[in-house]
Amino acid sequence: MQHAMPFHEVVRRRRSARSFLPDRVPDALIQAVADDARYAPSNSNIQPWVVHIASGATRDRLSKAMLDAAAEERMTPDVPFSYDDLYGVYKERQQAQGAAYFQAAGISRDAAEQRRFAILRNLEFFGAPHVCLLFMAPVYETVRVAGDVGMYGQTFLLSLAAHGLAGIPQTLLSLFAGTVHETLGIDPSLKMLFGISFGYPEPDNPVNTFPLDKAPIGETMTFHR
Ligand SMILES: Cc1cc2nc3c(=O)[nH]c(=O)nc-3n(C[C@H](O)[C@H](O)[C@H](O)COP(=O)(O)O)c2cc1C
Repeated sequence: MQHAMPFHEVVRRRRSARSFLPDRVPDALIQAVADDARYAPSNSNIQPWVVHIASGATRDRLSKAMLDAAAEERMTPDVPFSYDDLYGVYKERQQAQGAAYFQAAGISRDAAEQRRFAILRNLEFFGAPHVCLLFMAPVYETVRVAGDVGMYGQTFLLSLAAHGLAGIPQTLLSLFAGTVHETLGIDPSLKMLFGISFGYPEPDNPVNTFPLDKAPIGETMTFHR
């Protein structure tokens, strides 16, 4: 499948969507995105990603199993994660993003309510009809493989954008990795890094379009000339 959108437009059009239309993406379009994603670079071309995509009844069963696990506070991540580790400019950026999102979603400033809403919407896959689950093959040390799987994830996301689709990478899904392994029968030696819910973004919903600052080049890059 051909797409003619200029690269700078694809990169800027890609946003994390948090509201989707229920329409399923045709299989041929999912195949086209999968075909783009497999060109992602990796250490020594080892391609250490193992990818599962859940749609239809399986997607619904998975969402329910994860919501049940969340209700019982049954977190089973394959790799540890904590928001509490943030500080300084990283904390500031995270708080700015959270405030902009919750304002766009019409959720009050109450932290407990925001947390409940965020967990619920993430585990409902934000209404997306498909979810892609990204696992790391048990090779090298985790950090190298995570870099490779991140490359794969971004290629997948850019291809979605180029095809008029949208997705959202979700670390939150990986906090319930044990439930994903169990529900889909996935080899426990594979470590889940994140998921990507995807589909057709709901146009004009503020949760998909709210403005978000990206740090200027000078804040994150130093030129040594
Ligand atoms: C690896 C990764 C994991 C993420 N996990 C979540 C998540 O669990 N829930 C969520 O709502 N957003 C998640 N995000 C989306 C980020 O919040 C989003 O990328 C960031 O705010 C920048 O916005 P943009 O993607 O629209 O440019 C994640 C992004 C990345 C790259």
